Amino acid sequence: MNDLTAVILAAGKGTRMKSNLPKVLHKVGGKAMLAHVIAAAKTAGAKRTVVVTGFGGAEVEAAMKDDAVEFVRQTEQLGTGHAVLQTEALLRDSNGTILVLCGDTPLITGEVLRNLCAEHEKSGAKATVLTTVLADATGYGRIIRNDDGTIAKIVEQKDATAKEQKINEINSGIYCFSAPSLFAALHKVGNNNAQGEYYLPDVLQILRCEGAKIYATTTTNNEVVSGINSRAQLAVAEKILRRRKNEELMASGVTLMDPDTTFVDADVQIGRDTVIYPFTWIEGKTVIGEGCEIGPNCRLQNMTVGNNVTGQFLYAHDAKVNDGASLGQFVHLRPDTVIDEDVKIGNFVEVKNSNVGKGSKLPHLSYIGDCDMGAGVNMGCGTITVNYDGKKKFRTVIGDNVFVGCNSNLVAPVTLNDNVYVGAGSTITKDVPNGNLAIARARQTNLDKWKDKRE
Ligand code: UD1
Ligand code: CA
Repeated sequence: MNDLTAVILAAGKGTRMKSNLPKVLHKVGGKAMLAHVIAAAKTAGAKRTVVVTGFGGAEVEAAMKDDAVEFVRQTEQLGTGHAVLQTEALLRDSNGTILVLCGDTPLITGEVLRNLCAEHEKSGAKATVLTTVLADATGYGRIIRNDDGTIAKIVEQKDATAKEQKINEINSGIYCFSAPSLFAALHKVGNNNAQGEYYLPDVLQILRCEGAKIYATTTTNNEVVSGINSRAQLAVAEKILRRRKNEELMASGVTLMDPDTTFVDADVQIGRDTVIYPFTWIEGKTVIGEGCEIGPNCRLQNMTVGNNVTGQFLYAHDAKVNDGASLGQFVHLRPDTVIDEDVKIGNFVEVKNSNVGKGSKLPHLSYIGDCDMGAGVNMGCGTITVNYDGKKKFRTVIGDNVFVGCNSNLVAPVTLNDNVYVGAGSTITKDVPNGNLAIARARQTNLDKWKDKRE
């Protein structure tokens, strides 16, 4: 493959979204539309990706800063041709292929783009446009072909004659160009048309008139080229992306009990033989290992989950759960928590910014915050860490094999060393040495014949 650079047009406002957010930053399948297009370009083999920004440019650039792309500002939106021309300073020296894409087509796939690039190379054309046939082509640029079937030009809806408007083959807005031919032709594009814009598709006709070969290749999968202009189209794309992700997961060996109620973001990874029960959301950068049972009713965001973990009815975010742990029901794991191997967390438990050591048990009704807990610990029902004095947070340190009786309060900062026992109902405020029993509650008094005396 020739040296491939992707140029993604993302300067437009997206008026029909009725939004303060630039259109390309609206999320679909769990990430910005533009991020899907960038990913497809990279899958297709783009070595460089240049994003043309304009409306909300700073916001778009900030949101994509981790995506290893370059940005060019188009300060005035004078048309798609003008937008591509803004990349000339960056790409002037390129001798390879430029793949032009739009930032609002999140359904595009790396595979479709790879085929387009391959066709472009094979034909030896200076420009190749990806087309598709739509039942209703309204609004799109139409593909005008010569009698021999070769492409003559592209005519925009607003410039098309009544006869041209009847054509159903449309310009997807995705093209491959030879870089030097593209920039040479762009300088010749004018704006004498219905919208007063510099149209990128005019490059094709200019090249053809100069005797260069231009080419059009058609995809029958018109879903992949559809652009998002409204919230309704965004919702349609959302469904398609989720269906695709679910199919990909099932094909790779994940069981989804009910794909219709399983919502998995595009970048999530799930291992083989994991079973996902209904009403489950798996989001962001979550990675789940093999042989897990997740759900029903789980929401996992940016979680790292090992193998053979079970979890039901939980909300877990930005935390880590190691192999063999079992969670739920009604568990909340909050950021910066590490649940080690074979830990058991039962009903109504919240864990925040804590480490829970191997095989420890939090069976019922606990709040564990800012705590470093060793292995083999048993936290009795209702036991909590008291981590906050109203101004500052403090840590609780618990050694290995500690047994904390029910309904105890561990007032941080405090350390329970290894093998400590805590009597039920204690409020522990002082460190407890290794192997001690700590009881911190009022001694029980039984008053003899108290009822008789009262009466
Ligand atoms: C464009 C094509 C049309 C094609 C359609 C496919 C032109 C003139 N027409 O029409 O043939 O059928 O896409 O969807 O190219 N943009 C900029 N700067 C600008 C103008 C646009 O960055 O000055 C960006 C937009 O943000 C958008 C993309 O270019 O991502 C396409 O622009 P848009 O105005 O949506 O083009 P269409 O009218 O849909
Ligand atoms: Ca337009």
